[in-house]
Amino acid sequence: MGVERSEALLVMSSWAFGLQFGTEQLARLRKIVTLQEPVVLHELDSPEARSRLATADVLLTSWGAPPLTAEILNAAPRLRAVLHCAGSVRAIVTGAVHERGIAVSTAADVNAVPVAEYTLAAIIMAGKKAPFLARRAAWAGGGDDGADLAAADGRRETHGRRDLSNRGRRIGVVGFSRTGRRVMEMLRILETAEILVADPYADADAVAALGGRLTALDEVLRRSEILTLHAPALPETRHLIGAAELAMLPDGATLINTARGALVDHDALAAACATGRIDAILDVTEPEPLPADSPLRRMENVMITPHVAGSLGSETRRMSDHAVDELDRWLRGEPLHGLLDPTAAEVSA
Ligand SMILES: NC(=O)c1ccc[n+]([C@@H]2O[C@H](COP(=O)([O-])OP(=O)(O)OC[C@H]3O[C@@H](n4cnc5c(N)ncnc54)[C@H](O)[C@@H]3O)[C@@H](O)[C@H]2O)c1
Repeated sequence: MGVERSEALLVMSSWAFGLQFGTEQLARLRKIVTLQEPVVLHELDSPEARSRLATADVLLTSWGAPPLTAEILNAAPRLRAVLHCAGSVRAIVTGAVHERGIAVSTAADVNAVPVAEYTLAAIIMAGKKAPFLARRAAWAGGGDDGADLAAADGRRETHGRRDLSNRGRRIGVVGFSRTGRRVMEMLRILETAEILVADPYADADAVAALGGRLTALDEVLRRSEILTLHAPALPETRHLIGAAELAMLPDGATLINTARGALVDHDALAAACATGRIDAILDVTEPEPLPADSPLRRMENVMITPHVAGSLGSETRRMSDHAVDELDRWLRGEPLHGLLDPTAAEVSA
């Protein structure tokens, strides 16, 4: 008699399934687990779903999966692992999942890859003030390419020198998160002068190992020519960056936010950017999208993208590949790379 194969069940929207699971991923899955037909469920309430839950050992979840309530878990007596093919499991994993001792793995670490890539690009572009010069050139027309601004605008004189460069920059990182850490690794390609990190829960040695210095938020603000936010939206991080914090940034600093809009007081940001003292690159806003009449939309020194830094299109396959890798590790009894620590979840994204 052969060893019984584990049974996996995919739970996600048809959109997520189409995006994240091609023939290659399904073939990989079929090699290592049993998949019943249909391979994917979009809900867990119907009689069909309940009978599938009864024999499932592991769930692969993604966008559109319903919350795994105690009632749903009661219908899944064999369930021992939930492997998520996206970043945050907040909408899916309830306390009941942890109480049952079910292992949860997320793809948040690999979801951080495109966010960090976007951030690195934003840092480099901010060093040259490129998005702002481009906006100015597009708006002014008539041959104004912003050269006068690059050459003559006093606020771009940093420490006595005109500085549209990426060498010797002081970069501030708020949140030594999966994304923040990847940004720091990528910053190795730039000859930065200093990387300052604010995170009340981070370890100074771990920060130093990635070339940074852990310090208080105030010092990070006072010294950072480019400040990039990578902390989660929590009650205590709401409007972490307000008028007082923006006032501490050096003249000509750029704020980059790819984390969550709630971290920034947008009225204060609009006021600071309106003076021309501070520039901003925002992939996330509060609210999102910003109202049509938001002054931030009309400023040449503010670049806004519609929440595109995270995994999109082909990048989402990195997360389903990660979940299938996790399944492979789990079946072999190896440690999961994206194992969720329920005790750390409170300060996580
Ligand atoms: N733009 C996008 O498309 C996109 C995609 C993915 C994630 N995100 C966002 O990026 C941010 C980082 O996500 P992650 O998965 O890398 O985070 P994470 O869960 O890996 O880490 C969160 C970190 O924030 C730190 N932190 C908590 N409170 C803090 C505070 N007051 N000040 C500074 N640091 C604090 C924690 O110590 C932890 O190190 C989150 O806001 C997340 O929602 C955005």
